[in-house]
Amino acid sequence: MDELQKKISSLDHNRMPVHVAMIMDGNGRWAKRQGFARSDGHAEGVSTVHRVTKLSSDLGVKYLTLYAFSTENWNRPADEVDTLMYLIGWAIERELPELLENNVRIHLLGDIDRIPEESRKKLLYARDSTAHCTGLQLNMCLSYSSRWEITEAARRLARKAAAGELDPDSISEEMFADNLTTAGIPDPDLLIRTGGEERISNYLLWQIAYSELYFTPVLWPDFSDEEYVDAIIDFQSRERRYGKTSEQVQNNE
Ligand code: FPP
Repeated sequence: MDELQKKISSLDHNRMPVHVAMIMDGNGRWAKRQGFARSDGHAEGVSTVHRVTKLSSDLGVKYLTLYAFSTENWNRPADEVDTLMYLIGWAIERELPELLENNVRIHLLGDIDRIPEESRKKLLYARDSTAHCTGLQLNMCLSYSSRWEITEAARRLARKAAAGELDPDSISEEMFADNLTTAGIPDPDLLIRTGGEERISNYLLWQIAYSELYFTPVLWPDFSDEEYVDAIIDFQSRERRYGKTSEQVQNNE
């Protein structure tokens, strides 16, 4: 048995994270270290996306959410933005047969209308073609930022209230969550950020209220299956208290 298989068999299959979210950071630095262009780092990053999707599916994770392009990423140099947009469309088209084979459902989160048409069509095609899949749900955050999403939800509720269709006092946390792009998706259990920075960068701010955070210095293209399993092993060692005391959690109160 190789190291990876040993680690996988040491996992507690009753305590797997249902939803894993990832911030895929470090592509640019990886490329620079190899003497390549930043875009080559993103291309290499697509291979890691392929691996983590396959492993998530094999491990029985139900939701994998990837921060592929943030609202703020539109401010990067135009050639890098163009490459990323092209890569995202190219990758989803190339991966579609295997995603279908693995019963993976694609879900898109973010301001998808801003994605250039060619890539947008490929993304929407992949989403529609996998709509019947019942295995892993792969949520791709594209032109996404949490403040954008929260502001949109506030606008939607305010419009209904202004139209007299909604009593402002009836707005609950559940109703608010139902107006986010993640409506119907359970909150992430585990958030992994690669690349060494320890920040959230406008990602799923509402949804990660009680997520376990895992930061690794490993750059995204180097993020291996073993590293991913290490993050899950670490997650399984945490006590999730949701504001309660350790004693209450242990007594199942
Ligand atoms: C951050 O690294 C990474 C991104 C802005 C893009 C991530 C996108 C991919 C891995 C490709 C997505 C493809 C699919 C199919 C989802 P960085 O450029 O900020 O790295 P740095 O911090 O080292 O500069």
